[in-house]
Amino acid sequence: MKDFSLIDSAQTPQDPYGWIDSSMQTIHRAHWYRKVKAIASAPGPVVALEGKTVLNFASNDYLGLAGDEQLKQAAIAAIQEYGTGSTGSRLLSGHRPIHRALETAIAAWKQTEDAIVFSSGYTANLGTIGALVGAKDLILGDVYNHSSLKNGAKLSGAALLDYNHSDLDDLERLLDTQRSGYRRCLIVTDSVFSMDGDLCPLPQILQLDTTFNSMVLVDEAHGTGVLGATGAGSVEYFGCSGQPLVQMGTLSKALGSMGGYVAGSATLIDFLRNRAATWIYTTALSPADTAAALAAIAIVQAEPERRQHLWERVAQLKAQLTDRVHFPLLPSESPILCLAMPSAAAALAMSQRLLDLGFYVPAIRPPTVPTSRLRLSVMATHTAEQIEQLVSAIAQAAAETAAETAAEHLPPALVR
Ligand SMILES: Cc1ncc(COP(=O)(O)O)c(C=O)c1O
Repeated sequence: MKDFSLIDSAQTPQDPYGWIDSSMQTIHRAHWYRKVKAIASAPGPVVALEGKTVLNFASNDYLGLAGDEQLKQAAIAAIQEYGTGSTGSRLLSGHRPIHRALETAIAAWKQTEDAIVFSSGYTANLGTIGALVGAKDLILGDVYNHSSLKNGAKLSGAALLDYNHSDLDDLERLLDTQRSGYRRCLIVTDSVFSMDGDLCPLPQILQLDTTFNSMVLVDEAHGTGVLGATGAGSVEYFGCSGQPLVQMGTLSKALGSMGGYVAGSATLIDFLRNRAATWIYTTALSPADTAAALAAIAIVQAEPERRQHLWERVAQLKAQLTDRVHFPLLPSESPILCLAMPSAAAALAMSQRLLDLGFYVPAIRPPTVPTSRLRLSVMATHTAEQIEQLVSAIAQAAAETAAETAAEHLPPALVR
């Protein structure tokens, strides 16, 4: 047995958890500290945030479905029929007919042969990437990809190289110089970049994957329900439906529920049922979430006017911000609009001032993103008046916080 008396107490930290405290101090000093705010009301454009009624521009509920009566009734009916829990993993404990019905509905909507539903979008990415590639393989990822794609890539054990944001020349250079050294190659990208709002150049990426015999996984978390003639996402929007690729997405944003999915060929989906650890070894999505997502997909296809309202409000906000607010608007082709802030402190000050004025607009800071910003997300249920009020509030908050931010200059790199 080891003689513990030999451990030099002078070199041994008194508290093995003490480093967490100093790490927290660093987080505070850098203005990177985050904390959760409580919303004690139904989801929607107006919410009760920490006891105060505010206009909400912080939600990914782009079509306003999370509080929709039809989704609530579908969830309640599923609970009445199947109970609250799914009781185990699908392979071990069986699934409910609605699980399969949801997968069939997703596949039909996405024009793929089949689909598989995970407990979240995050686990869909972790499990799918880990099933598709391993130590002998290469992953090429957009540097602005979501955390779930980045962590999925790390966990897979494949070699991971980032390409510059939406930079096809950089991607082609990496394929050209690296592809031949590996067994398989997977290109992974957000379709709508979640903290920026711009779109990946999907058709060109699909051309490159054919040339270099590579697979593509596109993350439609913020495209599903929002983009394309039927709201099926960026693949539909770009006219790429039917092409071989791995389409991943979530049920938790425009679809107002919870869970993730992958849509693709029947062989791919069957393979994932056998190899995706985050699907095999976890409890199935709850009956309520499953039924709500199923109802949402029907609504999204039957009510294109929801998308039309959304895009009208997005166009209005873009135009009014450009006219009245001096902060640069990051390029966006989605309901996510970001105003570049000169620093994390400035972003926080603006966000706080907006909250005081009655608007919930989150500050997004490093390490989530390379540069600080205010992230505004628009919902179909916002009114034109609410958008106008937001723009006036941003202009007012900008003027009031100008003194704090005037000393700092916006680096040109912020304006992409
Ligand atoms: C681009 C992207 N991918 C994946 C996810 C994870 O999805 P979920 O929230 O369903 O786990 C998110 C959500 O934050 C996201 O923005």
